[in-house]
Amino acid sequence: MPANKKLLLLPGDGVGPEVMHEVRRVIDWMARRRRASFELAEDLVGGAAIDAHGSAISAATVARAKEADAVLFGSVGGPKWDTLGFDNRPEIAILTLRRELGLYANLRPAIVLDPLLDASTLKPDVVRGLDLMIVRESTGGIYFGEPRGVETLPDGQQRGFNTETYTTHEIERVARVAFELARKRQNRVTSVEKANVMESGLLWRQVVTALAAREFPDVTLSHMYADNCAMQLVRNPRQFDVIVTSNLFGDLLSDLASMLTGSLGMLPSATLGDTDPTTGRRYALYEPIHGSAPDIAGRGIANPLGQLLSFAMLLRHSFAMEEDAAMIERAATNVLASGLRTADVMAPGAAQVGTSVMGESILRELEKLAA
Ligand code: IPM
Ligand code: MG
Repeated sequence: MPANKKLLLLPGDGVGPEVMHEVRRVIDWMARRRRASFELAEDLVGGAAIDAHGSAISAATVARAKEADAVLFGSVGGPKWDTLGFDNRPEIAILTLRRELGLYANLRPAIVLDPLLDASTLKPDVVRGLDLMIVRESTGGIYFGEPRGVETLPDGQQRGFNTETYTTHEIERVARVAFELARKRQNRVTSVEKANVMESGLLWRQVVTALAAREFPDVTLSHMYADNCAMQLVRNPRQFDVIVTSNLFGDLLSDLASMLTGSLGMLPSATLGDTDPTTGRRYALYEPIHGSAPDIAGRGIANPLGQLLSFAMLLRHSFAMEEDAAMIERAATNVLASGLRTADVMAPGAAQVGTSVMGESILRELEKLAA
């Protein structure tokens, strides 16, 4: 059995704890079957942390995240905390972790599994077999750029402003992640910006082009304006393999791409930082794309597969446990193919189940696959 791996679980708010519970059961199963043992820690983030100690994430939690080999994040937020100011909202937890751990490359896959083909609002022919990956820059751009703020003008009007900035280094490191991923996939990268109207977009295009020529001449690179990319994603999403883009465009395009699959509750994500040269460890956080879904929280009906598939990504990217990752993904596909569905992906003729029955079915399937 591989040596202990330190995992920090941050379930957060809403459905976060419910779906994280199902991952814990899979972790227990892996330990029982002696596939891997994890040293688990769990902590509060988001609204739960605000209620407990006044801030969305404490310095101690950030320190714990830095010590862990990988962080599995749930989801944060809810109406209870919606009236809080900008600097003390549940969302600060994820933004702080991205910044403090330097998690600059956010990997967001959009995959259409055959059993869920009909869940998409697009025609089956357009999305069948879809498998694309958006690599979103996640520690720079307009989310973090300075200056930012709201000022009062001499005439009494207010003016809100944010700044989009990217340096050569910031562009190169995230593009490198995209090119390396593409090499393991279909070897194609589409770099997305608005070089027609934004200086930072023009620099983005130049830096990605130069990097490709220098380090990745074998990967096919194309460029696309962000608005066109949104259109192309709906028109013909299978033209894409890996898309690399800025923080804000990636936020928008990844939501769009997730809906091509029709099943937001199913999609995982990974956010990677640099490798520490002394420990050889790469900072990494994994989370489902879906939010805390306060409208269905506490009812036991949330889809646990997004969280579980995020754990599969964690096994693959942080621990090189490809076999286990693929087995969990296989188990999810098989359970869906057997006709079980949570409410969010319910289809005519399928059997609707809640969070824990879905989790149990995954465990049973894992037993079969591991036999
Ligand atoms: C996401 C979310 C976050 C973002 C929010 C919660 C800050 O929309 O992860 O896509 O905008 O990055
Ligand atoms: Mg978003």
